[in-house]
This record gives sequence, C-alpha cells and structure tokens, in this order.
Amino acid sequence: MRDMTNSVTIKHHYSLRGHNTFGLDVKAKQFISYHTVDELVEVLACLRDQGEQILHIGGGSNLLFTKDFEGSILHSDIRFIQFLSRDSREVVVRVGSGVKWDDFCAEMASSNYYGCENLSYIPGEVGASAIQNIGAYGVEVESIIQQVETIEVATGKPRVFRTEECEYGYRDSIFKRDLLGQYIVTAVVYRLSAVPVVHLDYGQLQQLRSRAGVPTAQEIRDAVIAIRQSKLPEPEELGSAGSFFKNPVVPAAVFQQLAATYSDVPHYVVSEDEVKIPAAWLIDQCGWKGKSHGGAAVYEKQPLILVNRGHATPADIMELASLIEQSVMEKFHISLHPEVNYI
Ligand code: EPU
Repeated sequence: MRDMTNSVTIKHHYSLRGHNTFGLDVKAKQFISYHTVDELVEVLACLRDQGEQILHIGGGSNLLFTKDFEGSILHSDIRFIQFLSRDSREVVVRVGSGVKWDDFCAEMASSNYYGCENLSYIPGEVGASAIQNIGAYGVEVESIIQQVETIEVATGKPRVFRTEECEYGYRDSIFKRDLLGQYIVTAVVYRLSAVPVVHLDYGQLQQLRSRAGVPTAQEIRDAVIAIRQSKLPEPEELGSAGSFFKNPVVPAAVFQQLAATYSDVPHYVVSEDEVKIPAAWLIDQCGWKGKSHGGAAVYEKQPLILVNRGHATPADIMELASLIEQSVMEKFHISLHPEVNYI
C-alpha cells in the first residue's frame, strides 16, 4: 500500500484475539486502523486497486470468526463527541464511530440526558450500535438515532442515512441485509432528551419506580450496570459475544400450543399475531446451562450466552451452537437464529 497519512496503522498477519470479545486467536492478513474520514477514503481507494476483501469491525463484540480472515480488516479510531445543539428540552450530539459505546452512555448520563441509559455497559463501539440496532431493557438505539453518516465502500462517497432509511428492526438494519458490507459508518447523530423520559418496565428496573421522584439518567445507568454485571460475563474475564441467539418471534398459535404444555412459558407479545419467547428459557429447558463442548460452554447464569473457557476453537463454538439449535428444534419445533455475525 502506498504511503499514507501517518496516522493510518497497518499490521500484517495480525492476531485478532484482542479484537473479538470471544477471544479467539484467529489471524487477519492485514489490519488497518484510521483516524479520519479522509484517511478511510484513501485506504478504501488503495484496497479497491488491490482487489482486497474488506471487513470493517467495531469492538468485535458481536462477531464469531470461524477461521483466519484472508483480507483486510478495517477499524475506526474516529473519536469525538460533538454537541450540535442543546436546549432545555433536548440535545443533538454527533459521535465518531470509534468511540466506545459505553463512554458515550457514561457522558450522557452524567449530564442527565435521557435516551441511552438503559443501553449502558453494552460492549462495542458507536459505529456498530447503528448497524446492529443494539437494545436492552426495553430500549433500542434506533429510538435516539437521528442520522447515520457513512462512506460507500465502492466509491468512497459520503452518504447520510436518516433513521427511517436504516429500516431498523429487532437487532436488524438495512446495513445487515440489503446493504451488507456496502457502507462504513463514520459517525452517528443521536437526539437525547434533557427532560426525563424513562423506561422502567423491565423486571429489576421496576423498583426504581417505587422511589420518590423520577430517577436520574445516572441512577438508571447504575441500576442497568448492576443487572448486567450480575448476569453477563465480563469479556476480559470470560470470552463471549453477549446473547448468541436472537429471541425467536413465533406465530401466536405456536405460542398457544407451547403454553398448553408449559403454563409458565415467559413471553412478550409483539403484535396480535406474534409472540417473542426468550431463547434463554428454551435453551434452559433443554438442560444446556453450564454444559461444555470442547473449550466452549453455555454460561451458567444466562444460557443465551456461549462462552470461551479459554481454549475454545471457532469449531467448538459453532458445533455447540448447532447442537443447541437442534435440541431446541427437537423439543419445541422452534428455530433459533444466531444474533452474532459469523465471519
Ligand atoms: N431465562 C431462563 N433461564 C435463565 C435465564 C433467563 O429461563 O437462566 C428466561 C427468563 O424467563 C427471563 C428470560 O429468559 O425472564 C429473559 O432473560 P433476560 O432478561 O436475561 O433477557 P434475554 O431475553 O435473555 C435480552 C437481550 C439482551 C439484553 C436483555 C435485557 C436478545 C437476544 N438479548 O436477553 O441483550 O441485555 O434482553 O434487555 O435480545 C445482547 O444482545 O448481547 C444482550 C445481552
């Protein structure tokens, strides 16, 4: 690659262990990080000339590398938090794609801006938040996204997506489907509320309701962090990619049949015709909690999470996932679909 602005870093035959929260020791032929949009455009032009296969990653918290990557992995170090407007009702803030998602949440909560406190402590970076439509405790990030700034991989041209153009769904967006791999997010513009707008329906958050006064964004953030720390493994201590599967959405009739046998089946009504069932419950009922397969295992405290006990190979994790899918299919006739992206 020709000499570029010196803040572009290129590493060859590079271990991705520190770039995927599963902690798998796979290699990339080339790993490139950049700090500005101009650098990204220049990097893309060079890679295009070379006909290189490209994968852009964020914090690697939702990826399963199934093998070494024989191309170039790109990573954004674009980091800024810029207030575009603030008044007594709301704040509009533009954030670089390489900012750690939870650093952004921490800053918003400490200023008592409401909107992302329920999404506190989710691993990963700002760019990926807008692709994955991250969600937790009754909130999805699409509710605070105003627009998404991108660069088109094929041309290097900028394109701004309004929220409705992103076609958000449950852990889903146009960037994961029709436009997969075609655009790189460089910044996200969020709109947060300066007056309290709280979402406290989720079980353990309900206790904040019973206290006097509306909780601050910081209080909600602290409660969310406490819940996550009690249920989810810390990536530094035990490799995982958070929830491995999506919660399946099934037709109401399928749910009725299930409820006839299991009166206690937990569920969320999505619409008149559809019901979401926690994959954790289905997996738990199949007796998977704490079970291992090679170096991979089902987390004891939350069976929706597959973990790397330290020496897992990609095959261990893929095999365990497919054994779980098979047993849920046999017992409940329900398909589970991975939430993590297989690479
Ligand atoms: N459950 C069991 N056994 C268990 C654990 C849970 O049966 O050992 C059942 C319980 O009925 C529980 C239900 O599963 O009420 C749901 O569990 P939990 O509240 O832990 O949430 P989840 O549906 O498993 C989803 C998200 C999480 C998010 C939480 C909280 C998905 C795929 N996962 O998990 O997101 O933090 O809700 O909102 O939607 C992630 O995406 O990586 C992630 C962690």
